[in-house]
Amino acid sequence: MVCIAKASVTKPLWARTLRSEVLSPTSRRSFRGFTARRILRTRGPTPSYAQVGLFFSTSTGKTEDVASIIKEKMGTADAKDISDVDVSTLVDYDGLVVGAPTWNTGADSERSGTGWDDVLSDISGLDLNGKPVAVFGLGDSVSYGEYFCDAMEEVYRHFKNAGAKMVGHWPADDYQHEDSKSLLDDGKFCGLALDEDNEDDKTEGRVAAWVEQLKGEGF
Ligand SMILES: Cc1cc2nc3c(=O)[nH]c(=O)nc-3n(C[C@H](O)[C@H](O)[C@H](O)COP(=O)(O)O)c2cc1C
Repeated sequence: MVCIAKASVTKPLWARTLRSEVLSPTSRRSFRGFTARRILRTRGPTPSYAQVGLFFSTSTGKTEDVASIIKEKMGTADAKDISDVDVSTLVDYDGLVVGAPTWNTGADSERSGTGWDDVLSDISGLDLNGKPVAVFGLGDSVSYGEYFCDAMEEVYRHFKNAGAKMVGHWPADDYQHEDSKSLLDDGKFCGLALDEDNEDDKTEGRVAAWVEQLKGEGF
């Protein structure tokens, strides 16, 4: 009896409130920014990454798996599916790392075929002025070699439109693709391209090197 009373008293107010079913969806949304900041402050093992938001979308889980590797290497809070996020809260973070797979082959828009397609226009309208943002993308450089990681550029462009400082450009030399919309004029990818279908053995090393690079680029 004593223990129950103690547990209910010591549980933080924000945690109790968030789990409450009596809150309306609007009220729950209004708590998300606060909650993300609170969780990031208390959980992040590396203070410098405590305020970095890590977001992904996925159809078959591979981008989520890679987000977990990035979380582990950067020491951010847990990655979140962008479909579960009120995108207006993205302005609350000091930096953002965002990842998308490509499913809509050859398309000009909605290239990801995942949750990003629903929120990109809203993201363009945010004020992310000067905030460091790094993009990663998953694709198949063999079966879809002419469209490798195309969605990454679409995500990149919308964050850039919001005024973010885009970092994490990545050399395209060590890949099998023929072409990609995510290649910049200097021949680099606009973010970290990953191929879990054919080169999963390279993912961990690529992520580790990219995270090191980000440390010198504002993260
Ligand atoms: C129908 C289909 C279409 C795809 N289109 C592309 C594509 O255009 N470009 C690309 O790089 N990869 C393409 N892929 C590969 C996926 O992007 C890749 O498997 C990715 O890792 C999936 O990530 P997810 O599990 O997070 O959804 C395609 C795969 C399938 C099955």
